[in-house]
Amino acid sequence: MGKIIAIASLKGGVGKTTTCLNLGVSLAQTGKKVLLVDTDPQGGLAVAGNLKRITRNGLVQMLRGELGEDEIVIQAGKRSLFLVGSGVETLDDLAFLQQEGNNGHLGTAIKGLAMGFDYILLDTQTGLNSLLLQLLAHSDSLLLPCSCQAGAIKTLPLFLKSVHKIQSERNRGLKLEGVLLTMMDSYDPCTTEVEQEIKKTFPAEIFFNTRIPLLPSFARAALHGVPVALLKTAPGANRAFDALALELEARQHNTGEETL
Ligand SMILES: Nc1ncnc2c1ncn2[C@@H]1O[C@H](COP(=O)(O)OP(=O)(O)OP(=O)(O)O)[C@@H](O)[C@H]1O
Ligand SMILES: [Mg+2]
Repeated sequence: MGKIIAIASLKGGVGKTTTCLNLGVSLAQTGKKVLLVDTDPQGGLAVAGNLKRITRNGLVQMLRGELGEDEIVIQAGKRSLFLVGSGVETLDDLAFLQQEGNNGHLGTAIKGLAMGFDYILLDTQTGLNSLLLQLLAHSDSLLLPCSCQAGAIKTLPLFLKSVHKIQSERNRGLKLEGVLLTMMDSYDPCTTEVEQEIKKTFPAEIFFNTRIPLLPSFARAALHGVPVALLKTAPGANRAFDALALELEARQHNTGEETL
């Protein structure tokens, strides 16, 4: 079974969906078989990956027994990259997904989907909600994107503390894959201040060495529903995610993953 990595944050708009899609593409390019799962009922990943052009079905329809795994797992082009949508289209669907999260069926289903893949990246809904707690109970690790702004950094201690509780009470195997600094703007003096604050407050080891720059190409790619690697007008924009994929891979081969 592949490694299930939940991509989560307490603060919204920090780059979870962008990381899920673009890291997925970069991992697939290294030859890994990757499944991206949109567990966010808002369907950000399905929009960013233009999945709804192919199907509006997903986890909800599989959990209801209406469709099989092979009918909801969609291959992205010819790559070894696959996507599953949440399948949430109505309020009833939303209530159903939350209920299936709470009773553990969603987590079990995702573990079932993970067979045959190297990595399963879960794009999650912002915040510490019951769905996220369930997903973390069934995940192997957690990747925390954090935009390089004071507001986002300040949410990290509470989030790390809450996840520590999940680890001790519900999933002892849950590891911290790393905190990923996103939307780094080297021309913004605030970024330097935030970096200094980070150095003072957190152990350096919890951060990925790779940082994701603030680039208009990411917003443009999202607008077109494609990973940034496919934007013809932005060659090289995916370089940071390629580096992140290599760093993530390297972490799997040593025991240096951080416990929370
Ligand atoms: N490195 C970046 N440079 C510029 N824009 C970015 C970058 N990363 C993400 N964005 C843009 O910022 C916005 C928020 O990103 P994204 O949707 O990935 O965040 P999120 O954490 O998934 O948000 P939500 O909480 O709504 O799920 C999007 O419009 C995205 O295109
Ligand atoms: Mg999102």
